[in-house]
Amino acid sequence: MQASAIAHPNVALIKYWGKRDTGSNLPATGSLSLTLAGIETLTRVEFASESGTDQLTVNGQPDSRAAARVSHCLDQLRALAGAGGSATVDSENNFPTGAGLASSASGYAALVAAAAAALGIDGHEQELTNIARQGSGSAPRSLYDGIVLLENQDTGVRCRSVCAPDEWPLSVVVAVTSHAAKAVGSTEGMERSRMTSPYYGAWVNSHAADLQTALNCVEQRDFAQLAELSEHSCLKMHALALSSRPPLMYWNAATVAAMQVVTELRASGTPVFFTVDAGPQVKAVCEPDAVPAVREALQNVPGVIELIECTLGRGARPV
Ligand code: DP6
Repeated sequence: MQASAIAHPNVALIKYWGKRDTGSNLPATGSLSLTLAGIETLTRVEFASESGTDQLTVNGQPDSRAAARVSHCLDQLRALAGAGGSATVDSENNFPTGAGLASSASGYAALVAAAAAALGIDGHEQELTNIARQGSGSAPRSLYDGIVLLENQDTGVRCRSVCAPDEWPLSVVVAVTSHAAKAVGSTEGMERSRMTSPYYGAWVNSHAADLQTALNCVEQRDFAQLAELSEHSCLKMHALALSSRPPLMYWNAATVAAMQVVTELRASGTPVFFTVDAGPQVKAVCEPDAVPAVREALQNVPGVIELIECTLGRGARPV
């Protein structure tokens, strides 16, 4: 009873930041994301026949912080399959972990895909989506291809691909400005924003309209409007973070400089926009022809230490 799976991180254009039910990890809003080929998590899961304590390593090191959430997901997968003892989980990322590159999204998506394959679970898409969601709210999006919509439902979430990678090829150039793990993780950060930011209610109330407009942009392949709206959603999320108490500033000087460079590039006609998650890396989303210009501009920003080039990719799958 063992299997391996690959999953890619995803980056949200219309962000998730805040939960409607903390205990069940239910998001307050839907979200829209890009699944990113070019960076990936490879996870191997092996189930013993007897029950016992699950073992987890991430990049070769035991990870006690994630152990409870991982076991919670595994318990539900074991219940769904009606089989499986304790699990040994080994997960490797080929990109910086815990630094705002969605390693938790690809991590839980790869975990669910590998464990489901190991347990012989076939189908059950809705259940697997909601098991991944309990690991990390952004993780179920990494189970799907290309541009992915996550919608809230009464008791859970539902995800679907709204555009396959080859239907609208987009590129993402990630400007890495730090390899350090972030001081305050997304779970704690968004809970702090929900409890303390005076803007939280406005964020939730304006979110459905942003999501609907973004979906229309995708349907019409309207890059210019999607660019404006995605940057707006990103800056609104960071406005929540900055207005939390104590404040959450996920940016460093190079983050801000890279965002400004992207803004200038777009103003001069290059189809590119930025988005930034709970970390200091800047993701520049662009049309493929713009990649050389975007790379050149970002690599000249002081403090940018590495560029990672991604395209739209497939959802998690066993290998
Ligand atoms: C800024 O999915 O990591 O990347 O559900 O608490 O694990 P938890 O949070 P997580 O948060 C992602 C936040 C974000 C925006 C997004 O991906 O939508």
